[in-house]
Amino acid sequence: MRIAPSILAADFANLENEVKDVEPYVDLLHIDVMDGHFVPNITMGPNVVQALKPKTQCELDVHLMIEHPDRYIPDFIKAGSDMISVHVESCPHLHRTIQLIKQAGVKAGVVLNPATPVESIKTILPDVDFVLIMTVNPGFGGQSFIESMLEKIKEVKSIIDAKGLDVKIEVDGGINPETLQKCKEAGASIFVAGSAIFNHEDRKAAIEQLRGA
Ligand code: DX5
Ligand code: ZN
Repeated sequence: MRIAPSILAADFANLENEVKDVEPYVDLLHIDVMDGHFVPNITMGPNVVQALKPKTQCELDVHLMIEHPDRYIPDFIKAGSDMISVHVESCPHLHRTIQLIKQAGVKAGVVLNPATPVESIKTILPDVDFVLIMTVNPGFGGQSFIESMLEKIKEVKSIIDAKGLDVKIEVDGGINPETLQKCKEAGASIFVAGSAIFNHEDRKAAIEQLRGA
């Protein structure tokens, strides 16, 4: 299992130290990019990815909650992204967008909003490295986990297994030790956690709790 601290919940004025604080316990960092159009919030762009890249050994998992992602993907690749995920709704030519990411040697993921049906990713599944299943509505940290997403995780997992694909399932939103366990049982293996890590003084303990240690 991989835990990806979401820096959205970190202290932005102290980002380097926040990253250093979690780095000994994880190998992945989740970066939430929001444009104020696709979601009702504005966060960070490629310059933040570029600034973090030389400061950490962790892989950078960039979650694009933006319109017209194709316009910005080259900048995020150049900035040093290791994983990039895009929402079904923002990609009229999803296959092309996924290829744009993969051609650069970056892992590509497709994201499902809570109300987006699994059917919408069936055809693209063999082309992606991971599926990100939103377990809250995207836009903000600190929201409550949507329980009905557990069925969706199981559904995606059963399609992946039936087709014999090497596609990982990542979950994002409202992840805490209890909801993580449920998602793991349903078939997820990458767990994004913002407030469950950065809202705690002791990040080591918070991450250990998530791992169920
Ligand atoms: C929400 C973001 C999440 C968010 C998760 O739109 O995609 O990555 O940071 O925050 P928590 O873990 O606090 O729900
Ligand atoms: Zn995210």
